[in-house]
This record gives sequence, C-alpha cells and structure tokens, in this order.
Amino acid sequence: MMRTIPVEHVLERGRSENLKRMLRGRDLVGFGVGIIIGTGIFTLAGVEAKEHAGPAVALSFVIGAVVAALAALCYAELASSVPTAGSAYTYAFATLGELFAWIIGWDLLLEFGLGLAVVSRSWSSYLANLFGLPQVLFGETAPVNIGAVLIIGVLTVVAILGIRESSRLTNVLVAVKLAVCVLIIGVGVFFIDAANLTPFIPPAVPLPEGGSVLEQPVVEGVFGLEATAYGVGGMLTAAAVVFFAYTGFEALANLGEETRRPERDMTIGLLGALSVCAVLYIAVSFVLTAMVPYDQIDTGAPLAGAFNAVGLPWVGALISIGAVTGLTSVMMVELVTIGRIGFAMGRDGLLPAPIGTAHPRFGTPHRMTIIGAS
Ligand code: ALA
Repeated sequence: MMRTIPVEHVLERGRSENLKRMLRGRDLVGFGVGIIIGTGIFTLAGVEAKEHAGPAVALSFVIGAVVAALAALCYAELASSVPTAGSAYTYAFATLGELFAWIIGWDLLLEFGLGLAVVSRSWSSYLANLFGLPQVLFGETAPVNIGAVLIIGVLTVVAILGIRESSRLTNVLVAVKLAVCVLIIGVGVFFIDAANLTPFIPPAVPLPEGGSVLEQPVVEGVFGLEATAYGVGGMLTAAAVVFFAYTGFEALANLGEETRRPERDMTIGLLGALSVCAVLYIAVSFVLTAMVPYDQIDTGAPLAGAFNAVGLPWVGALISIGAVTGLTSVMMVELVTIGRIGFAMGRDGLLPAPIGTAHPRFGTPHRMTIIGAS
C-alpha cells in the first residue's frame, strides 16, 4: 500500500505516444478560463457585496486571486516538472504511496464527476428559463433531465474525437463568456455613481442573528472577536467565499501529457488563465457596486437586477447566455479531466487496465470519458 512510482517512470510513460501532444500555452489558458468562469461571478459578487463586504468586494476578489495564485504556482511547479495525465493523483503516487494515491484519485473523480452532474442540471434549468422549455423535461425536478443528458452526450462525442476538438470548442465558448463579461463592464461604466462607492469599506456591523464563528475569518475567530459584516473582517469573509469563483484551474495539470512544452506552457496556462479571470472579476464586481448601492443589490440576480434598474433589461438576457456558455465550457473541461484521471489510474492498475489505454485513432481516453459521462 505504501509503494511509490519512481518519477523517472512517470516521465518515461508521459513520453509515450498514447495521448497526443497538441496543446500550447494559449490552449491551456483557454481550458483554464473555460473551467474557472462558471456562474460564480454572476452571483457571488453581488451576494457578498450585500452581505459581507460592500464595495470592498472588489478587494475580496483581489485577495482571492492572490491566494489562488499561490496554489496555482504549486501546481505549475509540479505540473511542469512531472507532466502527467493524473495530476495530484500521480504526484501522491510518486511521493506518498499507493494508498494515498488511490484516495486522491477517487477524490478527484468524485469532485469532477459530481461537478459535471450538478452543472449539467443547472445548465438545463438556465436553458429552460431562457427558451421557456417544459420544466418536466428540463427543470431541476425532471425525473430524467433531457437537457442534461443531451449536453453531456454532445460534449462526450467532442471529448472523444480529440483534445484539439475539445480545445477549439472550449475556445469558442470562452470567447462568448468573455464577451459577456466585457459587455457588462463596458456598458456598466456609463452608469457608475461614485456616491455608491463611499465608504468603500463600510463600517463593521454585527451579523444578523448574532452570526456564527463559521461565518467569520479564522483570525477573528481565533482571537474571540465578534463576527461582523463589512469592515476589514467582512471583506476577508467575502474573500473566502468568492475564492470559489477562481476554483477549477487545478484541472489544467491533468493535460501535461498532451502539452507540447509542459515545462513552459503549464505555467503560462495556469497563471494566464487566473490573471484573465482576476482582471474580469475585479472589474465586474467594481462596476456592479458602483452601479447599485450595495444594500440594495438583488441577491437573486445581482447583475441582471443592476441593469434592469438602469433601464437595460436586455443585458440580463445576455448575462443568461454568458452563464449557459460558461457552464458548457466548465462541463467540457470537467469531462476531459475525468478521462485523464481515470486513464492514469487504469495505467497504474488501480482501475481495470483497458481504461488505461487511449483510443488508437483519436488519442483520447475514450473509455473513461464514456464512464464519466454516464
Ligand atoms: N469557478 C467556478 C465558478 O465560478 C466554479 O462557477
């Protein structure tokens, strides 16, 4: 149970022609932005501004970006020196041993598998709301969610056809959601009211219903301070929540065996994707809190509500399109990632051996991709 795989062995296998080495740094940036930007920015910025940080939510996004960058640097170090399809699973196998690798491998499969299931259902709900489709087939309560089944089916075909095809589709989806974010910022700046930004860090107030230690920053809890909203403490609390909007970049480390120059491109992909998202997140949250007084933000649909309030309801429809394309690219990258993790585990004998072989023509881990989709 404690046996480890020598790093040389991992590197040797990574050089085999099983998976196709097609990706460059910019493709990794596309995959990274594809999985990072989901619905987090469209909801969390507004909710956290209203409940914890006020206009300082933009600073919460800065703190979240710095923390995410520290984790991304660790991944960049590992993924560029040990490029492999298994990422954290293989790093654990090489250092801690088979038992830990097994646990981490299944953790990763659970994370991305559960993510795929949940995201496909919300994708279907967004689509149903956008086009007025029947809830019984596309809604959250649908016994068999047709929308979820259809989108996963289409993405599975693309994921099996090739990493280049997956990258191209992801790039198109990423372009749409980036355009929506840029539009929010570009239109929103014309409705900025500087009065909404003062005070930028509103004074601290006790949390409603006394608050709980679980809702405050660890430093406050450790020193027995009262849990508050707003103030520097509220800004830190919001930073912990909005960190969610940055998650996903770690999936890139699974593409090491398909990257042409992983020692260089992995760092470009991880830090590039994170930087693009950080700039957009900080700008979107700044514009939102400058448009609407933070205590009047509609937490159900913060951005759409802000544009409704200034007489531009069509921006809300575009935001829904941004959310649907955002969720589609998240699912695309999750599916690609599941395939690679299962492939690595199959190759090591921790899943049946056929799972650890790539499709002879397409060079993709087709069996695990189909299992993950199912
Ligand atoms: N980072 C992803 C999102 O914001 C999870 O939806």
